[in-house]
Amino acid sequence: MNKTSTKKSTSRFARLFAARHLSRLLALLLAVMMILAAVTVFTGCKARNSGEDGPNPDAQTDADAGDGTDSGDASDVQGTAIDYMVLVNKENKLPDGWEEALDIVEFQDSQGWDVKVERGAYEAYLLLKAALEKEGVYVDLDSAYRSVAEQQQIVDDFTEKYGADYVKLYVAVPGFSEHHTGLALDLYLTVDGVDIVENEDLVQYPELWAVIQEKAPEYGFILRYLPGKVDITGYGYEPWHLRYIDDPAVAQDIMDRGITFEEYLGRLPSFAVPVDYGTSELYTQEEMDRAITTFKAEFENWSGCELHAVRYLGDDLMNSENLAWVNHIKEARDIEGPAYTEVIAFASDFHSPTDEEDLTGTAWEADTEYTNWEWWLARSDGGPWELVEWGY
Ligand code: DAL
Ligand code: ZN
Repeated sequence: MNKTSTKKSTSRFARLFAARHLSRLLALLLAVMMILAAVTVFTGCKARNSGEDGPNPDAQTDADAGDGTDSGDASDVQGTAIDYMVLVNKENKLPDGWEEALDIVEFQDSQGWDVKVERGAYEAYLLLKAALEKEGVYVDLDSAYRSVAEQQQIVDDFTEKYGADYVKLYVAVPGFSEHHTGLALDLYLTVDGVDIVENEDLVQYPELWAVIQEKAPEYGFILRYLPGKVDITGYGYEPWHLRYIDDPAVAQDIMDRGITFEEYLGRLPSFAVPVDYGTSELYTQEEMDRAITTFKAEFENWSGCELHAVRYLGDDLMNSENLAWVNHIKEARDIEGPAYTEVIAFASDFHSPTDEEDLTGTAWEADTEYTNWEWWLARSDGGPWELVEWGY
């Protein structure tokens, strides 16, 4: 398996989740119906809206935004105004009360998957979809709104299949996923009548994503996880993940400048570290991002240390001498698995702790900037990077 994001499994997850919980849900439904029946019998009450007979003034009707893909079984959640510029990322969780305020449209996409989307985002999406069709680009929605429970299931599923480092780069911690907002849309493509849903296939169509990214801001969407911006967004490149912000002028500005939402809002996360990817004929930025995420997981254990910069040390270091060295370490440490076939190295600058407590048991000089500290990683045949050595 070689999946690169949460996309397809999100939908697969939805079906699994539904099956696992169907019997429990039916039992629950039955219990609720019995309680309601008992209440009706004993109190003689009838259903009311806002304590009055007649139509509920807060109730909304479904917008007839059908384009042939909307199955028409949209359901309403009571909606109040939401902040379309809300920032949800690794350091900003979904605001309290958000889901209660969401006005959600639910429909089935062309694959028969149930998808839920915030209503404004959905209506804008339909316009974008129609505009793209005029350009010969066919898209549909794979995943949009996800509950915290659904996100947790994805984390569990992906951790089991691909490991924690992968999940860190592509899957948000439940409560911190932009998908909870209902404003994040994962698209899939239809090319020559064939649905392209697997991520490794989707990334084979950069020319289609270019058209989508050109059109998206006109309808109030931005690209959320840009290539080479993992130091700011915390995630690898996801061309399929659009974010609705409701304001086409702002969206256009963000897209024209090629910046992240965090940069536009002036809210860089504390982990933002500039990465100099240099030039490489061996590794893509995504491959480097995976390696960086792997050594950052170690760095995060260094209490009180602050990472300031990361630099790729170049293709020259992927040589037979270094391969022999990392394989020697692997053997000496009794690490299982096939021999390493690739090696990669980065330099970093970081600041040591000022707090005595953080310095206990370390060899750091207090409050000092360490430069060109090296991180060496290796992998076997394109598998996950393993951190082999670090230091001077
Ligand atoms: N794939 C995005 C980061 C999410 O899980 O929300
Ligand atoms: Zn997404």
